[in-house]
Amino acid sequence: MRQDISHKAMSACSHGGIYSADHRLVRIDCSSSVNPLGPPAGAISAIQKNARALVPRYPDPQCSDLKKSLARYVDVEPDCISVGNGAVEIVYWFAQAFAGKQVVIPAPTFCEYELASRKAGARVTFVPLLDFELASDLIIEKAAGADALFLCNPNNPTGILSTPQVKRIIEEVGSRTKILLDECFVELVDDPGRNSMIRLAGEHDNLVILRSLTKSFGLAGLRVGYSICNPALSKRLAASTIPWNVNGLAQAAGVAALADKNYLERARSLIKKERRFLHDRIRRTKMFRPCKSDANFFMIRLSDRNSTEFRDLLLKRTGILVRDCSTFTGMGSQHIRVAVKTHRENVLLVKALESFDRDD
Ligand SMILES: Cc1ncc(COP(=O)(O)O)c(C=O)c1O
Repeated sequence: MRQDISHKAMSACSHGGIYSADHRLVRIDCSSSVNPLGPPAGAISAIQKNARALVPRYPDPQCSDLKKSLARYVDVEPDCISVGNGAVEIVYWFAQAFAGKQVVIPAPTFCEYELASRKAGARVTFVPLLDFELASDLIIEKAAGADALFLCNPNNPTGILSTPQVKRIIEEVGSRTKILLDECFVELVDDPGRNSMIRLAGEHDNLVILRSLTKSFGLAGLRVGYSICNPALSKRLAASTIPWNVNGLAQAAGVAALADKNYLERARSLIKKERRFLHDRIRRTKMFRPCKSDANFFMIRLSDRNSTEFRDLLLKRTGILVRDCSTFTGMGSQHIRVAVKTHRENVLLVKALESFDRDD
């Protein structure tokens, strides 16, 4: 991962999910990394109960109830929170407001940081990961004089936490550089409290923390993301919001999801157990090497196979969809990414991979 990708032309940016392939073939989607428990039951019944009343009405443009619930959940004041149509909307607000001329992005990472920055007219400098961890010295050096910096902890596609490096970067990068720290997966790691930087948002005027109910509460189809930062920065961040950006059913489901107090704890314990199960079984194959991860997804290194071809073949043969990592800037074509799902689904994934191993 030492290749020079600092000024590479814009790569193709694709995502996982059933529409990334022929969705009629997909029986199990291991390509998008959402909570394996699915949405909390309370979120679904909030939609069912409120549909008749909310569908004909304009939603609250301020998302006031949802903001209050989120503020209680993350323990900050409601005016520190902005709510977006998915976290990705906030990535675009951030780039629009702060990307300026020069942006720094580690690579590989979530591709929308690059797209949003370029769309805002900024030049992007990539800083390659070192053994899949953040190269903090180099990031601090490159961020000097940059307008904005994107960080993701745990990172996508690696699933690796680089918490000490992130903390150091936030402390050392000058306050002129705005930082977007994406924590969309942090609630699904073993110890979110020790790895989240929400507390630092109160101390640093240049820091925006990005979260989402998509991944952590399994609400991908509803699109609810939010940010936490100081109120003055929040106003500038959300300057390009369109009115009614979050629909009424998504707001009601979000409030109900946050009221389910044991849900994330149950998800974390399932993910920890199932990640270990998947790693143990995949490690025994000849063709597949599972990579270390702290999150609800991990990469698998393929020996002697191209990741795009393998993704397509696996889907055709078994109906299982995985994420081809070759479209991430800075990745070659030897890795796929899989989500940790329920035990039944994980067994099917393992059996499918084992069948390729036997055929090889
Ligand atoms: C790191 C990361 N941040 C943000 C998002 C987008 O989240 P949302 O669905 O809330 O827009 C994704 C989606 O894949 C992601 O991987």
